[in-house]
Amino acid sequence: MPQAHTFATLRTEIAGHGVVELARRFGTPTYVYDAGTIAARIEELRAFDCIRYAQKACSNIAILDFMRRRGVLVDAVSAGEIDRALAAGYTTTGEPPPIVYTADIFDRAALTAVVERGIHVNCGSADMIDQLGQAAPGRDITLRINPGFGHGHSQKTNTGGEQSKHGIWHEDLLDCLRRADAHGLAVTGVHLHIGSGTDLAHLAQVAKAMEGFAAEVGRTVTTISAGGGLPTPYKDGDSYVDLDVYFRLWDETRRRLEDRFGHKVRLEIEPGRYLIAESGYLVAEIRAVKRMGKNTFYLLDAGFNNLARPILYGAYHPMSIAPADQSQAADRPEHDVVVGGPLCESGDIFTQEEGGFVSPRNLPEAKVGELLVIEVAGAYGSVMSSNYNSQPLSAEVMIKERTPHLVRVRQTFADLIRGEVIPP
Ligand code: LLP
Repeated sequence: MPQAHTFATLRTEIAGHGVVELARRFGTPTYVYDAGTIAARIEELRAFDCIRYAQKACSNIAILDFMRRRGVLVDAVSAGEIDRALAAGYTTTGEPPPIVYTADIFDRAALTAVVERGIHVNCGSADMIDQLGQAAPGRDITLRINPGFGHGHSQKTNTGGEQSKHGIWHEDLLDCLRRADAHGLAVTGVHLHIGSGTDLAHLAQVAKAMEGFAAEVGRTVTTISAGGGLPTPYKDGDSYVDLDVYFRLWDETRRRLEDRFGHKVRLEIEPGRYLIAESGYLVAEIRAVKRMGKNTFYLLDAGFNNLARPILYGAYHPMSIAPADQSQAADRPEHDVVVGGPLCESGDIFTQEEGGFVSPRNLPEAKVGELLVIEVAGAYGSVMSSNYNSQPLSAEVMIKERTPHLVRVRQTFADLIRGEVIPP
């Protein structure tokens, strides 16, 4: 069981490779993933029968391939994510299903993809049941239920309760079972996901709620999914969830259901953040150091176009300075700085609280040309990046078995305007 972290504010290497070397070779800003960290997180979850990676957290096909080779299955929330899973070598059918489509709607592309490819569907609305039932009667489906409560690190990542659009409202379960019956769809599983970045107390309530819902569905249930939501430390003093306690909770729920049904029930977990967050580092260059009244700003070549979590949720990411010259690493005085990016928008600040309030951070003194590393950036980092201000998507590098591999080429200007047309 890993212990709570303290995060260092000076960093010379990532997975044994000098940060300065990595930046010289791949440029900045660049996301760097340490595959060893991903592998370690996977091993910690092996007690579950099935680890299903919520690829929305980081869907680069190199990451998906890495997961697949370790027996991790995958969740997809769009036709694009189904195609990514296929591009990374996942097959469409099998037991347990290698790819599960979980959503609250089918757009037309997604409905076509799941019907034509035979992808298992985890339905989050009655309309999905009807639409799938009409297009592909006789399938097995699972139901994602909104248990009436939820919790997340931000109100924007809470996926339960009546403020949330997610899942089948728990009081509508019976109606949805009738609809499934009417289409000859067999409900083989129940899925609950109450939010992202939650805590053990809330996750424990989910296990409890599962038992009632699975019992209501009845003996057709052969799978229960605990969803995602496992938190990861971002701040000094944050600790990991006790995974033994968490597994035991779910295992006991599963066993009680097995006794009730008289057959095996598979226990799935569906983490995104837990598997990928800590492996990821956003390496950026400090391009200006400015003083504005009381505040000192480090302005980077990375902005919220690269990492949107601070501007969206006031999310906190640990940061470190990678000194240009390692001999200068020790004994750098620290001072409060505000860290921002290149975008023409005042919200382009990495050290902010929810509501946009600038919150200075104690970091080592640094000069223009040195590197700043934004840490624990693997989850919901590169996948939520944009081309705002015509900034290209950054490069991505995966350090695997001690070798850095370029797994996404930095975009070019030609990529930026691809598809744009000037009318005659
Ligand atoms: N399963 C379902 C059905 C989900 O909706 C999600 C996350 C997960 C699993 C994975 O949750 P995780 O284990 O990563 O907490 N952009 C936000 C997070 C949004 C999460 C959306 N759904 C952030 O940067 O914090």
